[in-house]
Amino acid sequence: MRSLALLLCPCVIAVVVHLWLVANRTAFLLDLKDTDRQPSSLEVLVGVLSARHHHDLRDAIRETWLGYIKQHPQFRHRVAVKFIVGSHGCPIPQEDREDPYSCTLLNLTDPVNGQEVVVLPVPDASVLAPSEVSAVSLDLKVLHPVVITRLGVFPHGPDMELRGNVTVTLFQVDQEEPVVTAHFSPVSTGTSMNGVWYKAVEQFILPKGFEGTLVWESLDSTDLVTANVSRVQFNNGGGVLRIMSIEEGTLPHRTALGFPGVAGGFMFSVYDVEVLQEMLRGRPERLQDQASRLRLEDQALDQESHRHGDMVFVDVIDTYRNVPSKLLQFYNWSIGNADFSLLLKTDDDCYIDVDAVLMKIDHKRLRRSSFWWGNFRQSWAVDRVGKWQELEYTSPVYPAFACGSGYVVSRDLVEWLANNANRLKAYQGEDVSMGIWMAAVGPGKYQDSGWLCEKHCYLDMLSSPQHSPEELRSLWDRKRVCGDPCGCPWGHPDL
Ligand SMILES: *[C@@H]1O[C@H](CO)[C@@H](O)[C@H](O)[C@H]1NC(C)=O
Ligand SMILES: *[C@@H]1O[C@H](CO)[C@@H](O)[C@H](O)[C@H]1NC(C)=O
Ligand SMILES: *[C@@H]1O[C@H](CO)[C@@H](O)[C@H](O)[C@H]1NC(C)=O
Ligand SMILES: *[C@@H]1O[C@H](CO)[C@@H](O)[C@H](O)[C@H]1NC(C)=O
Repeated sequence: MRSLALLLCPCVIAVVVHLWLVANRTAFLLDLKDTDRQPSSLEVLVGVLSARHHHDLRDAIRETWLGYIKQHPQFRHRVAVKFIVGSHGCPIPQEDREDPYSCTLLNLTDPVNGQEVVVLPVPDASVLAPSEVSAVSLDLKVLHPVVITRLGVFPHGPDMELRGNVTVTLFQVDQEEPVVTAHFSPVSTGTSMNGVWYKAVEQFILPKGFEGTLVWESLDSTDLVTANVSRVQFNNGGGVLRIMSIEEGTLPHRTALGFPGVAGGFMFSVYDVEVLQEMLRGRPERLQDQASRLRLEDQALDQESHRHGDMVFVDVIDTYRNVPSKLLQFYNWSIGNADFSLLLKTDDDCYIDVDAVLMKIDHKRLRRSSFWWGNFRQSWAVDRVGKWQELEYTSPVYPAFACGSGYVVSRDLVEWLANNANRLKAYQGEDVSMGIWMAAVGPGKYQDSGWLCEKHCYLDMLSSPQHSPEELRSLWDRKRVCGDPCGCPWGHPDL
């Protein structure tokens, strides 16, 4: 009888409470929900990806939707918010990096002014052989501005014979219009230098960051002579060019231009050598400045973290290319350090409509397992250049992925990601990486266009990205004043 009495107890209390609080029905319902949950167990853990120096954005979030959660009598028990920040800054100053997205030293040595650099000086006959394909291509990336002056082809044998027509073209990656081109034929060979035929081309300055593909083409494959790329040493002019021959078959769009290889050479000159030398002279001082800047940044982050207690530091260098690793490490942290049933991932420039998100979770009973709620991009083409450059994922389109402004995953998926964090490869961008990882698991996807992919404003949006601190505050202020983040009717002063 005793145990039966205990079982009945909560119901009796509930009835009493109900009679007592009938005037405030909402508060009653939420309170009741709170009592049947374990005190330390959260419903939603929010991870906000944040760059180290985005202090102002973090503060704007703390003053808006995060502050609202922390002050709300129910939400503060249901939701916890953590900023995900890399514990290391990049010790290389911006100017000395290969590109703005990673932390790789632009490793240049002092080049000689006004001199043409021959990419393949005197090819060794033993590495040359007639081609088996009628087009070969070589990828290059410009790390300091250069001017390509001549394009060249390998001849057949020591008597320098050209057997057919060969066209050499430089394309900018993913562009169809050639940058420069040269035609060779038995009757128009150009000039020979160290066993290679060269023709001068129109001179363009190729800027830092330019990525291109050189293609040698002929009608008949036996007209081309190629060198085994793994047995030649390219002269990169002291590091101003990166010359790559991506493994055969790994990137399909390259194979469309020609099989990886080299069927001649080219010459180039380094542009603005004085600027380069000046840049290299200033480097030691810049490295020192950067080191002291990082020390100050470390201290400031330390203070910020102590003050707010809402930051999780993960062991990565905080650059754009490392964002997928930041996320994986956060997932790993979350499993060891927080009890939650859903994880919401967002960015530090995003507005989140906390009420709407939690209301949907309640109304649609979104606490399932193997569950992913987001706004999914389908058949998104893979980019091979620029900020979103992808050299690891070889298919032309990505699997479905949720836009990064906000998505929610169930705990079991986070557990899977955490357990496999060491084995999961990081692709370009955290959103597409997540799509590729999730494709292996096949979660139930719940499509919801409320998680905006672009900076827009709708009354019923759940999240909206790419805002400045001021914009985050105005969205939030309008939401508080009239319920519409996009604008209040006339009569609301200051909004
Ligand atoms: C810079 O390049 C040189 C050769 O070009 C190489 O020996 C050196 O290890 C490189 N340094 C870094 C930090 O990559
Ligand atoms: C080869 O190029 C020459 C011009 O250099 C042209 O006259 C000839 O028609 C071309 N041959 C073929 C087969 O394209
Ligand atoms: C190219 O050279 C590498 C290393 O010397 C060798 O393993 C490979 O088989 C060569 N490839 C061809 C197509 O000859
Ligand atoms: C995940 O976290 C555990 C400790 O909670 C740690 O031992 C492990 O190295 C982490 N794994 C990764 C990939 O960071």
